[in-house]
Amino acid sequence: MTAETSGTTSTVKQNRGGLEGVVAATTALSKVEGIAGRLIYRGYNIHDLARTTSFEEIAYLLWYGKLPTKMELVDLKVQMLEERTLPMAVLQVLKDLPPTAAPMDVLRTAVSALGAATIQGKPTLDQAIALTERFPLILAAFHRMRNGLEPLEPHPEIGYAANYLYLLSGQMPKEEHVRALNAYLVLLADHGMNASTFTARIIASTESDIASAVVGAIGALKGPLHGGAPSKVQDMLEAIGTEDRAENWLRDALARGDRLMGFGHRIYKTEDPRAEELREMARIADPQQFALARRVEEIALALLEEQKPGRRLYTNVEFYSAVVLASVGLPRDLFTPTFAASRVAGWTAHILEQVTNNRLIRPEAEYTGATEQQFVPLDERQ
Ligand code: ACO
Repeated sequence: MTAETSGTTSTVKQNRGGLEGVVAATTALSKVEGIAGRLIYRGYNIHDLARTTSFEEIAYLLWYGKLPTKMELVDLKVQMLEERTLPMAVLQVLKDLPPTAAPMDVLRTAVSALGAATIQGKPTLDQAIALTERFPLILAAFHRMRNGLEPLEPHPEIGYAANYLYLLSGQMPKEEHVRALNAYLVLLADHGMNASTFTARIIASTESDIASAVVGAIGALKGPLHGGAPSKVQDMLEAIGTEDRAENWLRDALARGDRLMGFGHRIYKTEDPRAEELREMARIADPQQFALARRVEEIALALLEEQKPGRRLYTNVEFYSAVVLASVGLPRDLFTPTFAASRVAGWTAHILEQVTNNRLIRPEAEYTGATEQQFVPLDERQ
């Protein structure tokens, strides 16, 4: 079966690399409809979930296959709270890393250390919960250490999003910041067979452990063609500075052959539904930055239509992520790690799904090298 027959993308392009249009697994977790611009998590439309559910509810939905009842959610939160601590071995690794290290590299290294210190055997749901809960702890501890501050004790009474903001600043976060970050975490939690999720599933398919699969996924997410884009969107908005400079700046970038960060998507050939939600959040969170971003978006879309006709390049999730994450006070280099702190719920759910019905993922390559070379011993080679 191809993605075309499954209805996820319109065209299956042959021999372009990138596995475009290839169905690599079956999943009941999320469905991305690229032409309709629709995203569902286990049958629920993302627009119904974005503003009304907590990240914990969505993690439960992905892990357990259903939305939790109130009691089930309480039980999950209790279990997550029990994991709200970092082993000494991980804290030591964070201390030993240079303060100038990129947080995404730090996260990858710390999750690897966490795996070595605490995880054995086949992937389990308990491991998925423990790993997820510790992502904000790792990021906040490193962020404070690099600023010469001691990591804080996690707050025992607040949720995942609020605790992350609290651990970074030491202040109880504003309600509107918690709401915005929570909605962001809900929107980014899963997204079909994206590159990092595929990486996680490949590693899990070898019967490796959950931490190894998540470490691989972090490495894949880091790249600017995947999760590394929002900090580059912020760089772009800053370089443009004012609305009147936007058109010239964007024209110059396209003339140089640069890609405009936050636009285009392998699957969506219309607007990314998550961008629609994030645009509204950005409008409320930071009206001034929103005005600039909105103008840049309008011009970018017009220029992409003019200069890349027929490629169907629209706003993707990363464009307004930058505005939303900056508005809740996150530094630019924590944007992609914060994406990881959401997507880890999806990665671990996919790893568990993979191991439940596993077959080694091992595709083939089309060999394009020489076939009939005459072997010459080392001494005789010219
Ligand atoms: N700006 C300018 N041109 C673009 C852009 C862009 N953002 N995206 C694609 N194009 C052009 C390509 O140059 C190419 O043009 P050509 O036909 O003249 O060669 C054409 O559109 C098709 O591009 P592909 O590389 O085949 O598209 P692909 O499906 O591989 O790309 C991707 C998807 C990587 C996301 C791309 O759109 C891109 O680089 N966007 C910018 C980075 C970005 O925003 N990444 C975040 C993605 S969302 C996420 O991962 C969470």
